[in-house]
Amino acid sequence: MSNVKFNHLLGIKGLSESHIQTIFETADTFKGLLNSPVKKTPALRDITIANLFFENSTRTRVSFELAEKRLGADIVNFSSSSSSVKKGETLIDTVNNILSMKVDMIVMRHPAPGACKFLAKHVDAQIVNAGDGTHEHPTQALLDAYSIRERMGDVAGKKVVIVGDILHSRVALSNIYALQLLGAEVMVCGPVTLIPKNIQSLGVKVSNNLMEALNWCDVANMLRIQLERQDQRYFPSLKEYSNLYGLTMDKLNMLNKEICIMHPGPINRGVEISSDIADSSHSIILQQVENGVAVRMAVLFLLAQGNKIN
Ligand code: CP
Repeated sequence: MSNVKFNHLLGIKGLSESHIQTIFETADTFKGLLNSPVKKTPALRDITIANLFFENSTRTRVSFELAEKRLGADIVNFSSSSSSVKKGETLIDTVNNILSMKVDMIVMRHPAPGACKFLAKHVDAQIVNAGDGTHEHPTQALLDAYSIRERMGDVAGKKVVIVGDILHSRVALSNIYALQLLGAEVMVCGPVTLIPKNIQSLGVKVSNNLMEALNWCDVANMLRIQLERQDQRYFPSLKEYSNLYGLTMDKLNMLNKEICIMHPGPINRGVEISSDIADSSHSIILQQVENGVAVRMAVLFLLAQGNKIN
């Protein structure tokens, strides 16, 4: 195991390429284990992890829970809808009460950008960001990049376009940081209203034309329109959005090459991606979900070794 240090995983920003390579190499070992008849290791036998989800989740919550169980950790699951947060308790009080029951690590999803960093400053536990508002979703970006590496051999030198609601997407920001660290070129594509104004300052290309973006890229990561974070209308109708930015087999067939199709989920079939593409061999959507368990096992294992990520 490398000597890369991990304490929290709050975001991809602040990580180095070698941090990510260490996570990937560790995930390779865990992926081998997950595909063996045993599937489990007692590596985190003495660790207790609380999963705090203040926002809805299917993939991330189940993936972390499985990763923790495969590592032999004790776990407790907490969702805001059934907790005393509803009675006015602060986040710090809630977490300190949980920690007083001898919990070592917190995995948290929260609607407020920066909530995980805030928590890491105020409580004595290792914090893993499972998505904080429109800010970052680091384990999603890690599993996305890991899946590109698996499908295409390497991330370096690949051209990746992220399509859709970039403005409200924590997946886009974490992917931009991770892919650039690993040597990929990144483009974002979507309607002008859903692209942050100064995003070029992150070193990404910008296109408002899906066919231009598809002709440029090796990999297209299709994002959902995040209606739950939109306080106004950013385009006239979902049908118009889908006509201009939805990925269909007709559009793929117009390319003179194969591209790899990704989606972080949940997918809205017929809006940003057609069913035939989502279920086709072009798509690695379910491989991404599968890889999420190994990647999250790697993150939790490295944290439990007392290493520092950022
Ligand atoms: N990709 C992702 O974060 O999905 P969930 O919201 O279901 O966790």
